[in-house]
Amino acid sequence: MRIRIGSDHAGFALKEAVKLHLLATEHDVVDAGPASDDSVDYPQYALKVARAVAAGEADLGVLVCGTGLGMEIAANKVPGVRAVQVSDPEFARMARAHNDANVLTLAGRYTDEPTAARIVDTFIATPFDGGRHELRVAQIRDIENGVGLD
Ligand code: RB5
Repeated sequence: MRIRIGSDHAGFALKEAVKLHLLATEHDVVDAGPASDDSVDYPQYALKVARAVAAGEADLGVLVCGTGLGMEIAANKVPGVRAVQVSDPEFARMARAHNDANVLTLAGRYTDEPTAARIVDTFIATPFDGGRHELRVAQIRDIENGVGLD
Protein backbone atom coordinates (compact mmCIF):
# COMPACT_ATOMS: atom_id res chain seq x y z
CA MET A 1 0.00 0.00 0.00
CA ARG A 2 1.16 3.59 -0.71
CA ILE A 3 1.39 5.47 2.59
CA ARG A 4 2.09 9.22 2.87
CA ILE A 5 3.33 10.29 6.30
CA GLY A 6 3.94 13.69 7.87
CA SER A 7 4.13 15.49 11.19
CA ASP A 8 4.94 18.71 12.94
CA HIS A 9 7.79 19.19 15.42
CA ALA A 10 5.80 17.64 18.29
CA GLY A 11 5.05 14.55 16.20
CA PHE A 12 8.45 14.30 14.53
CA ALA A 13 9.96 11.60 16.77
CA LEU A 14 6.90 9.34 16.53
CA LYS A 15 6.64 10.00 12.77
CA GLU A 16 10.23 8.83 12.36
CA ALA A 17 9.54 5.72 14.45
CA VAL A 18 6.38 4.88 12.49
CA LYS A 19 8.23 5.48 9.22
CA LEU A 20 11.01 3.06 10.22
CA HIS A 21 8.40 0.53 11.26
CA LEU A 22 6.64 0.82 7.90
CA LEU A 23 9.86 0.74 5.90
CA ALA A 24 10.44 -2.73 7.35
CA THR A 25 7.18 -3.88 5.72
CA GLU A 26 6.16 -4.28 2.08
CA HIS A 27 4.44 -0.89 2.07
CA ASP A 28 5.58 2.02 -0.05
CA VAL A 29 6.19 4.92 2.35
CA VAL A 30 6.69 8.53 1.30
CA ASP A 31 7.67 11.07 3.95
CA ALA A 32 6.09 14.50 3.39
CA GLY A 33 8.29 15.97 6.14
CA PRO A 34 9.44 17.71 8.12
CA ALA A 35 13.06 16.54 8.16
CA SER A 36 13.80 17.75 11.70
CA ASP A 37 12.03 18.66 14.92
CA ASP A 38 12.39 22.40 14.32
CA SER A 39 9.13 24.17 15.01
CA VAL A 40 6.68 24.09 12.08
CA ASP A 41 2.95 24.66 11.64
CA TYR A 42 0.98 21.41 11.52
CA PRO A 43 -1.65 22.56 8.95
CA GLN A 44 1.06 22.76 6.26
CA TYR A 45 1.91 19.08 6.67
CA ALA A 46 -1.70 18.05 7.08
CA LEU A 47 -2.38 19.68 3.72
CA LYS A 48 0.51 17.88 1.98
CA VAL A 49 -0.59 14.45 3.18
CA ALA A 50 -4.34 15.05 2.82
CA ARG A 51 -3.93 16.34 -0.74
CA ALA A 52 -1.87 13.29 -1.72
CA VAL A 53 -4.57 10.97 -0.39
CA ALA A 54 -7.44 12.95 -1.94
CA ALA A 55 -5.62 13.01 -5.30
CA GLY A 56 -5.10 9.24 -5.22
CA GLU A 57 -1.29 9.60 -5.04
CA ALA A 58 -1.38 7.68 -1.76
CA ASP A 59 -3.82 5.06 -0.49
CA LEU A 60 -3.64 6.14 3.14
CA GLY A 61 -2.10 8.96 5.15
CA VAL A 62 -0.55 9.10 8.61
CA LEU A 63 -0.10 12.43 10.39
CA VAL A 64 1.45 13.04 13.80
CA CYS A 65 1.33 16.18 15.92
CA GLY A 66 1.38 16.59 19.70
CA THR A 67 -2.18 15.40 20.19
CA GLY A 68 -3.20 14.34 16.68
CA LEU A 69 -6.10 16.75 17.00
CA GLY A 70 -4.85 19.71 14.99
CA MET A 71 -3.78 17.35 12.20
CA GLU A 72 -7.21 15.71 12.27
CA ILE A 73 -9.04 19.03 12.01
CA ALA A 74 -6.81 20.38 9.25
CA ALA A 75 -6.78 17.18 7.14
CA ASN A 76 -10.57 16.96 7.28
CA LYS A 77 -10.81 20.32 5.49
CA VAL A 78 -9.58 18.65 2.30
CA PRO A 79 -12.51 17.20 0.32
CA GLY A 80 -12.37 13.42 0.09
CA VAL A 81 -10.38 13.03 3.30
CA ARG A 82 -11.79 11.23 6.31
CA ALA A 83 -9.17 11.74 9.01
CA VAL A 84 -9.43 10.17 12.46
CA GLN A 85 -7.38 10.70 15.59
CA VAL A 86 -6.75 7.28 17.12
CA SER A 87 -5.02 6.23 20.32
CA ASP A 88 -6.27 2.64 20.51
CA PRO A 89 -5.90 -0.12 17.88
CA GLU A 90 -9.58 -1.09 18.17
CA PHE A 91 -10.61 2.40 17.08
CA ALA A 92 -8.21 2.12 14.14
CA ARG A 93 -10.06 -1.03 13.10
CA MET A 94 -13.47 0.58 13.48
CA ALA A 95 -12.44 3.74 11.64
CA ARG A 96 -11.47 1.68 8.60
CA ALA A 97 -14.28 -0.87 8.79
CA HIS A 98 -17.19 1.50 9.38
CA ASN A 99 -15.98 4.97 8.34
CA ASP A 100 -13.59 4.14 5.48
CA ALA A 101 -11.15 6.54 7.14
CA ASN A 102 -8.22 7.30 4.84
CA VAL A 103 -5.99 9.40 7.10
CA LEU A 104 -4.85 8.35 10.57
CA THR A 105 -3.65 10.98 13.01
CA LEU A 106 -1.54 10.13 16.04
CA ALA A 107 -0.62 11.92 19.26
CA GLY A 108 3.16 12.17 19.39
CA ARG A 109 3.13 13.39 22.97
CA TYR A 110 0.75 10.74 24.32
CA THR A 111 1.10 7.55 22.26
CA ASP A 112 4.14 5.32 22.71
CA GLU A 113 5.93 3.72 19.76
CA PRO A 114 4.75 0.11 20.20
CA THR A 115 1.13 1.28 20.52
CA ALA A 116 1.50 3.55 17.46
CA ALA A 117 2.90 0.62 15.45
CA ARG A 118 -0.08 -1.55 16.40
CA ILE A 119 -2.50 1.26 15.53
CA VAL A 120 -0.87 1.86 12.14
CA ASP A 121 -0.69 -1.85 11.31
CA THR A 122 -4.36 -2.30 12.20
CA PHE A 123 -5.40 0.76 10.22
CA ILE A 124 -3.56 -0.44 7.12
CA ALA A 125 -4.69 -4.06 7.39
CA THR A 126 -8.40 -3.42 7.93
CA PRO A 127 -10.62 -3.11 4.84
CA PHE A 128 -13.76 -1.01 4.66
CA ASP A 129 -16.78 -3.21 5.41
CA GLY A 130 -18.94 -1.47 2.78
CA GLY A 131 -22.56 -2.66 2.89
CA ARG A 132 -24.70 -0.51 5.15
CA HIS A 133 -21.71 1.75 5.80
CA GLU A 134 -21.40 2.64 2.11
CA LEU A 135 -24.51 4.83 2.17
CA ARG A 136 -23.34 6.61 5.34
CA VAL A 137 -19.95 7.41 3.87
CA ALA A 138 -21.75 8.62 0.73
CA GLN A 139 -23.79 10.92 2.98
CA ILE A 140 -20.54 12.35 4.38
CA ARG A 141 -19.49 13.04 0.77
CA ASP A 142 -22.86 14.74 0.21
CA ILE A 143 -22.25 17.05 3.18
CA GLU A 144 -18.84 17.86 1.69
CA ASN A 145 -20.59 18.77 -1.56
CA GLY A 146 -23.10 20.99 0.23
CA VAL A 147 -26.06 18.63 -0.13
CA GLY A 148 -28.61 19.32 2.61
CA LEU A 149 -26.83 22.41 3.90
CA ASP A 150 -29.34 24.91 2.44
C1 RB5 B 1 2.29 22.02 19.02
O1 RB5 B 1 2.69 22.58 20.23
C2 RB5 B 1 0.89 21.39 19.17
O2 RB5 B 1 -0.04 22.39 19.33
C3 RB5 B 1 0.58 20.53 17.95
O3 RB5 B 1 1.55 19.56 17.79
C4 RB5 B 1 -0.74 19.77 18.00
O4 RB5 B 1 -0.86 19.03 19.15
C5 RB5 B 1 -1.93 20.54 17.67
O5 RB5 B 1 -3.04 20.01 17.62
